[in-house]
Amino acid sequence: MTDKFYLTTPLYYVNDVPHIGHAYTTIAADVLARYKRLRGYKVFFLTGTDEHGNKIARAAKERGLSPEELADSVVKRFQNLWGKLYISYDDFIRTTESRHTKVVEKVFLRLYEQKDIYKGFYEGWYCVPCESFWLESQLAEGSLCPECKRPVERVKEESYFFRLSKYQDQLLNYIEKNPDFVLPPTRRNEVVEFIKRGLRDISVTRLRLEWGIPCPVEKKHTIYVWIDALLNYISALGYSLDGEKFSLFWPADVQLVGKDILKFHAIIWPALLMALGIKPPRKVFAHGWWMVKGEKMSKSRGNVISPEELVERYGADPLRYFLLREVPFGEDGNFSPSLFIKRVNSDLANDLGNLLNRTLPLVERYCEGKVPCPAEERAEDAELREKVRQVVLRLDELMNGLAFSEALSLIWEIIRFANLYIDRSAPWRLAKEGKKERLSTVLYYLLETLRVVSLLVFPFIPRSAERIWAQLGLEDKLSEKRWDEVERWGILPSGIRVRRKAPLFPRIKE
Ligand code: ME8
Ligand code: MG
Repeated sequence: MTDKFYLTTPLYYVNDVPHIGHAYTTIAADVLARYKRLRGYKVFFLTGTDEHGNKIARAAKERGLSPEELADSVVKRFQNLWGKLYISYDDFIRTTESRHTKVVEKVFLRLYEQKDIYKGFYEGWYCVPCESFWLESQLAEGSLCPECKRPVERVKEESYFFRLSKYQDQLLNYIEKNPDFVLPPTRRNEVVEFIKRGLRDISVTRLRLEWGIPCPVEKKHTIYVWIDALLNYISALGYSLDGEKFSLFWPADVQLVGKDILKFHAIIWPALLMALGIKPPRKVFAHGWWMVKGEKMSKSRGNVISPEELVERYGADPLRYFLLREVPFGEDGNFSPSLFIKRVNSDLANDLGNLLNRTLPLVERYCEGKVPCPAEERAEDAELREKVRQVVLRLDELMNGLAFSEALSLIWEIIRFANLYIDRSAPWRLAKEGKKERLSTVLYYLLETLRVVSLLVFPFIPRSAERIWAQLGLEDKLSEKRWDEVERWGILPSGIRVRRKAPLFPRIKE
């Protein structure tokens, strides 16, 4: 039986157009999905869009569109971008689809019937122009709406509540027993502190919400968007409907979120699942923010960087590489064009690009363009082979810990080592001295290293990995390869013809 791996991104709001922050979560998830497929897991990778709520109804109105029309056009834009970024999702869920709304209604009714949802009064602050509810703690200075900075009104109205308080102890217990449930650890501590201060029941319906799923208990109420949205992770598996996927894939193995939405995922979400008698996810990982000049990148700040433009100019792989390599996953990072260019030039153009661009011409020149047959292994060859083996052994722990940047720098140890191996073994001198066997061995070891490297970098920079693979003369599909081919040394067939192409990563001019 193969192991399953279920992983999710948050649902993106369709009032926003995709920026680098959104691309970040999705790329990280894609890397993990591809890595797990390489390791032989049966992967289910889910992403999608959050389409209900006043924010979206308002954004649609501003553009003279219906919410459905707005959602359709933004969804196309997201899906188009995911295509350009080689995102290999298995399913894309939209909260407006009936496969989702049906599940939300069923869950709501069930929780109501078992008295985990009850009717009460909501008291809070309401911004009339924004049609948004805010908690006291969310208000901007001077009791203003945090979005538009206008005065808010006190409201008190009937609402349905979820009995979150009832799950406080069970949650704390779960977090304590499962130290990997909320990561990174500093974020887990924040969550634990927050729960310990005492959880209050949360309002799960609104009266003035027109664009959303009507409350099945009383139609004049609408289900609060966050409750609606969180349930996507199980509605996409057909929970409570046919359930086959659900029993195969739940609990989720990794749920990626940005740090701003961790509390929803580490508190409300598992409590909802506990109320339904379902296991919480195994891991919720909160990544940091991409910032520009010290401020979070966001539409409201008007400082967003468009992934589309970067992909257009430099291709998807350099962006994928930069985002995951530049900043340890979990921390905030600064985006600037010059950091991007520096990183791409040094790691992709210099290190990886050069390894390929130095090796292939030597094979063309001295081996008639064919993969040579290795002769006796010497100490320096064994060292390279051993370097590869050590890296391969250490990689899994980093990948399972979502330490993408460290994993990349580990893989780059091979690449740098192989570049040194070229310098030290100086194939051009071996050729001049007529040491044919040594030359064949050195070139074979370089090509074989490149074969393993292309498998290792495939999750991160899939298109470039495939190009390296093809330039080595390999014809089978890289995406269908499995881990045993990473672990085996010496399986690149001698005699196949390499196919050198233009450099993979041309240097970018500053
Ligand atoms: O929160 N850097 O959707 P969203 C890094 N619909 N990540 C960023 C970022 C930045 N500058 N800006 C946004 C929602 N993100 C809800 C989720 S899930 C059931 C519902 C990340 O479109 C953000 O942290 O506002 C979040 O994880 C994701 O983009 C979607 O944000
Ligand atoms: Mg947001």
